[in-house]
Amino acid sequence: MCGIFGYVGGKDSVSILIEGLKKLEYRGYDSAGIATISNKKIHLEKSVGKIADLESIVSSKSRISHIGLGHTRWATHGQPSKENAHPHLDCTGSIALVHNGIIENYEELKRALCAKGHVFRSQTDTEVIVHLIEENIRHGLENAVKLALKKLKGSYAIGVLYKNNPDKIIVARKGSPLVIGIGEKENFISSDIPAMVKYSSRIITLEDGDIATVTKSKVKIFSATKTSIKREETLISWDPISAEKSGYAHFMLKEIHEQPKAIIDTIKDIVDPSKKNIKFKHLNLKEKDISNIKRVVLTACGTSWHSALIGEYYLEYYAKIPSEVEYAAEFRYRMPIVDKNTLVIAISQSGETADTLGAIQEAKKHGAKVISICNVFSSSIVRESDGVIYTMAGPEIGVASTKAFTTQVAVLFLLSIFLGRKKNRLSKAKFLSRLSSLFEIPHKVEQVLASEDKIEKIADKYCNANNALYLGRGEGFPAALEGALKLKEISYVHAEGYPAAEMKHGPIALIDENMPVVVLALAGRRYEKILGNIEEVNARGGRVIALATEGDRLITKKAKDVIFLPKTRETLSAILAVIPLQLLAYYIAIKRGCHVDQPRNLAKSVTVE
Ligand code: M6R
Repeated sequence: MCGIFGYVGGKDSVSILIEGLKKLEYRGYDSAGIATISNKKIHLEKSVGKIADLESIVSSKSRISHIGLGHTRWATHGQPSKENAHPHLDCTGSIALVHNGIIENYEELKRALCAKGHVFRSQTDTEVIVHLIEENIRHGLENAVKLALKKLKGSYAIGVLYKNNPDKIIVARKGSPLVIGIGEKENFISSDIPAMVKYSSRIITLEDGDIATVTKSKVKIFSATKTSIKREETLISWDPISAEKSGYAHFMLKEIHEQPKAIIDTIKDIVDPSKKNIKFKHLNLKEKDISNIKRVVLTACGTSWHSALIGEYYLEYYAKIPSEVEYAAEFRYRMPIVDKNTLVIAISQSGETADTLGAIQEAKKHGAKVISICNVFSSSIVRESDGVIYTMAGPEIGVASTKAFTTQVAVLFLLSIFLGRKKNRLSKAKFLSRLSSLFEIPHKVEQVLASEDKIEKIADKYCNANNALYLGRGEGFPAALEGALKLKEISYVHAEGYPAAEMKHGPIALIDENMPVVVLALAGRRYEKILGNIEEVNARGGRVIALATEGDRLITKKAKDVIFLPKTRETLSAILAVIPLQLLAYYIAIKRGCHVDQPRNLAKSVTVE
């Protein structure tokens, strides 16, 4: 949801800003801009569209500057246009500001500022901030920012430049992420860590309420209570190459292929080398806390919500703990019934999703213990939770989440068998056999990836369909939901996921010869039932694409196309099944000419409600 990048140091700020913004483009890509200072003047360049459009504008100008701020936008208030693109200037053109978040009381503030004679050039909520700073600039830049922030309701991460202080950037955050990267006689600011890894591995994550002054040699941070404070520096181990496409056409494709490694890295971070014991490094749950857990609530959004659904099956099956899944945005505003005996598990790739963060805060208000499953170190969700289990997927840049999903499911599996063991509801022998099944999954994912050509051919056949149904049972149902979401978000084809048995209660009316129906017909307890559902689709002329377990001869007679998956434990088959669904969505989107890594209207981290 909008990306901010800033630089102060001895190098050419323009090229660094453009490069930084390109890495943040997945957070928003409808317009972009940069502000730099040179010759005691603020210089502004903006454009509608991608960073490449902005790059061609700035490269035609030969301006040297050593300080600047950049922004890539995902519109909330005001359509994508040059006027609404950030940075925004005050009336005198002396102060430039970039913002990520939403200012909820901007209309009221704007009215008051207009009455005082301020002239607004955009329809954004953001612009009020820069005029509020202008109102107080006579008190000095830092004080002016502090006074402006006091008037704001809502969320923000901001960066501010002032022509009279050409050596410093002021940053502040409340409810939206912002990190500072420490360099040698240079410093950087960014909305997130993946964009920073190329420049610095020494990261300071600002806390809500923090305001910082960043010069090339110093970072001074003040807390909400205005006292100067020291925030811990974190050393990030992500290698810069992991944030590049490494020869793949798209980040999404690269990330699909990274799943065997991402899953094994995640498992190895949790299971000791003997492959017999599970140790969560940052779970922060004492034996007593675990024995007190009477109920689990899993909460998340989007793809992470789908992995939560699989987690619910696992927790009930292996740990016998009553569990339920809540959309984070619904949970937080529903006066949920949770208490100190409820374990809330918040799942998020980015660790910055505003609704999930809000759900955690709500759960804590009611006394629940909250742990998160997260891919980004020291992100807001991690810091808000009592404990965390990290997925070791590495940076996920593609807007369509892939490796985050499969690693989250692996973590949920491990957590469930761990709790099952702790609560004495799973025998040691069963625990060990489940663990060894999970260790086989990365290799089996590799085997599924080997079917890529076949999946591309299937995509060829179905890429012109305008609708699709995805059906599954058990853990296959969340996997079906995830397959449908992948198709929707990157190819703009209307797709719905359903529990296969529910089809006859309504969606069956949609089936005709134009409707591709992807059915997860995997070996296990529900296989016979799902065959029945396939017959129902065939009887109405639907075209079935089945995902089946290798060795299943019957299925080839019943489905138009079949993608075979290696045999595995039934509970783990969802991890394997989702891989062809990711690839199918990817190739359909490519064949429809869609921009896979930056689908329209979407942003990678949804940091607004
Ligand atoms: O970073 P998070 O896991 O909290 O993000 C949640 C959703 O916004 C995210 O999964 C979204 O649905 C993706 N576009 C799905 O591919």
